[in-house]
Amino acid sequence: MEDPIGGHPTRGEQLDVLVQIVTDLAKPGDAVLDLGCGTGYLEHLLEARRDDLALTGVDRKGSALDEAHTRFGERVTFVEGDLTAPTMIQLPDQRFRFIVSALTFHDLTDAQKQAALAWARDRLSDDGLILVYDRIRLDQPTLFPAQQAIWRRIERVHGAAMRTADSFAAYETDLSSTNRPARLDDYRGWFSGLGMASQVLHLHGNVGLIGAAPL
Ligand SMILES: C[S@@+](CC[C@H](N)C(=O)[O-])C[C@H]1O[C@@H](n2cnc3c(N)ncnc32)[C@H](O)[C@@H]1O
Repeated sequence: MEDPIGGHPTRGEQLDVLVQIVTDLAKPGDAVLDLGCGTGYLEHLLEARRDDLALTGVDRKGSALDEAHTRFGERVTFVEGDLTAPTMIQLPDQRFRFIVSALTFHDLTDAQKQAALAWARDRLSDDGLILVYDRIRLDQPTLFPAQQAIWRRIERVHGAAMRTADSFAAYETDLSSTNRPARLDDYRGWFSGLGMASQVLHLHGNVGLIGAAPL
């Protein structure tokens, strides 16, 4: 399966880090829930490394789920649901050892992110792990030139540019209903409020992988 977001220069490495963590930590039969699974690229990567896990993907886009279902058949459970109203999502009656999400949370408002994480925490097993891979909101104007240098390096090394901006003001203007990443401190505060330890497990430019586990 080809990556549907193949032009993203740091995504391959960051998804590989996420998949490595699940691959190394999962026990046979462990349940994995993917929030915003799209057409199932993460399921494809996970299945290639561990075909003994019970994978469930949630997305609000029926056409993406139809495509995923055609590809995976009954090997993966796909559920149509909206993360802005998580309590309405009809999940299998089980706890998940891993709840993961790739490049989806920036579509939610901060209040919706926080509610979705609280809902996810309730569906996580006591030895579980939440892994959120997404853009992190930049909030320090004085450090913005350093961030721009990182974007330029990514373009030099990877031969492809990321979403960039000419100034901090332009960056803020670009924030919109489909691009509203949360601040790192906010993620950590939300996890802490849910009784979870959290840590940045990988950061590339302003795209991070945050891990959180119950304390
Ligand atoms: C950029 S795509 C990433 C898809 C997949 N995680 C991947 O990395 O290949 C974002 C996905 O999140 C889904 N999504 C966005 N907002 C959502 C919401 N409120 N509820 C459920 N899914 C949502 C979109 O339909 C889309 O499939």
